[in-house]
Amino acid sequence: MRTIWALAATLLLFATMAGAPAHAQLAVRAPQPLKPDVIYVPTPEPVVDAMLALAEVRPGDVLYDLGSGDGRIPIVAAKRFGVRGLGVEVQEHLVRQAREKARAEGVGHLVTFRVQDLFRTDLRPASVVTLYLLPDLNARLMPKLLAELKPGARIVSHDFPMGDWRPEREVKVGSSTLYLWRVPERGVSPAGSRRRPRLPASPG
Ligand SMILES: C[S@@+](CC[C@H](N)C(=O)[O-])C[C@H]1O[C@@H](n2cnc3c(N)ncnc32)[C@H](O)[C@@H]1O
Repeated sequence: MRTIWALAATLLLFATMAGAPAHAQLAVRAPQPLKPDVIYVPTPEPVVDAMLALAEVRPGDVLYDLGSGDGRIPIVAAKRFGVRGLGVEVQEHLVRQAREKARAEGVGHLVTFRVQDLFRTDLRPASVVTLYLLPDLNARLMPKLLAELKPGARIVSHDFPMGDWRPEREVKVGSSTLYLWRVPERGVSPAGSRRRPRLPASPG
């Protein structure tokens, strides 16, 4: 009888020990909500229009908005130019909102929204990237943009510059400043890619 009790106790002990690491593993593996590197502030609609104009978005483009908020930039681009788009955003409720809005606007088949860290997004398919982040985030993104985007891809940033890259164009829209860069041929730094601003032809 004593042997049976000893065996039962041993089995119980093993079962407990075997269970503990499994629980611990589950706790480690549970996905943690991603944290935004910058708060949500939507780009006003007239500034969205100006960003798309500055990037010269046209049919055939693929637009990525990194930190897409309520999805307004890819949605407007899809509605106006029929272009495909991706928005990546860490805040789930904003991604849900963007998907609903895209469906309501009739462009759900053109745009995709993902809960994803922008630093873990494959940028290779994009021909246009839009940003409304912060200067230090733009600076952290620079090597990724250069490594993954094709030469000729356009990058438009609302309000914030990009390290030492000189913009091809800089425009003011109300209180916002917009910057445009074009990804140069491999091995050429965008810092040296600035076109000289054209001076208006002098009258007479
Ligand atoms: C200033 S808002 C711009 C929203 C939208 N692009 C627009 O212009 O209306 C920046 C967005 O980036 C998101 N964000 C912050 N860090 C991020 C990250 N690492 N990956 C993806 N999204 C991020 C924020 O949650 C926020 O919605």
